[in-house]
Amino acid sequence: MTQVPEPEAPEEIDLERPNAARIYDWFLGGTANWAIDREFGERAVQTFPMIKTIAKASREFLGRGVRYLAEQGVDQFLDLGSGVPTVGNVHEIATAVNPGARCVYVDNEPVAVAHSQILLEREGVAYRHAVLQGDLRHPSEIWNQATDTGVLDPKRPIGLIVVGVLYFLGRDEPAVEIIRKYLSMLPSGSYFLSSHLTNDGVQTPDRALRAQIHQQYQRSSTPFHYRSRAEFSEFFAGLELVEPGIGWVPDWRPELGESRAGARMAGNPSFSGSLCGLGRKP
Ligand SMILES: C[S@@+](CC[C@H](N)C(=O)[O-])C[C@H]1O[C@@H](n2cnc3c(N)ncnc32)[C@H](O)[C@@H]1O
Repeated sequence: MTQVPEPEAPEEIDLERPNAARIYDWFLGGTANWAIDREFGERAVQTFPMIKTIAKASREFLGRGVRYLAEQGVDQFLDLGSGVPTVGNVHEIATAVNPGARCVYVDNEPVAVAHSQILLEREGVAYRHAVLQGDLRHPSEIWNQATDTGVLDPKRPIGLIVVGVLYFLGRDEPAVEIIRKYLSMLPSGSYFLSSHLTNDGVQTPDRALRAQIHQQYQRSSTPFHYRSRAEFSEFFAGLELVEPGIGWVPDWRPELGESRAGARMAGNPSFSGSLCGLGRKP
């Protein structure tokens, strides 16, 4: 087997336990991951072979959502839990539609932040792009830091992107209130784009496998939690839902862009186990 060279690790990185940002990077074919993450990923694939396709379908949804927003004229984005940069990053998709588009990335994982910094130093424009290391569970702090960068104009609509992230907030954490707090600080006309893992509506044969994956993640530094469709819908309370509303990730406007992984679930989009939605703040 080819040896993958280990990337240089930022000082505060936890290499004792696998981490969601780095495992996800491995699922997507990236190189910002360590042996401990790859071993975890390989075990997850053994348990549930479609897991990489599911991760890719989620990433595709992110791309289509950002393209939709950019086409509606949204030209600034706050991407929380942005992850390790890979193909189709938010600022790239937005810029392809609106050349002046702006984006602030936020992640609490030092590797994701370091890789985003490198990418932005190479390809970014200082007044239009920034990355912050921070925990999205502190909305006021994150919002102040994001606006302090000068990249975002808080008086104009912003696309708040929280894709593939909210399931890392525990069921006992005030996840809905956290998102509400962000939305309360955003101007009218802003949008909230999100997705969430669920077991609700997922067909029985693979529910057991999903339960095993869930167990495996409990031993990582980033356990995740399923939420039901009703629980996910609560994040959108008070927003105008954009068609097709809350639904499965592969079904969300596949015509808008990359949807190859999602197409592999055609006929059974619940196989993605990922619900998504886009809401507009009136
Ligand atoms: C599955 S990845 C999704 C990345 C990207 N949003 C996407 O859709 O491709 C989840 C990301 O959320 C980050 N994350 C998890 N909990 C977080 C928190 N409390 N604050 C900030 N980032 C967080 C992880 O470090 C990871 O990079």
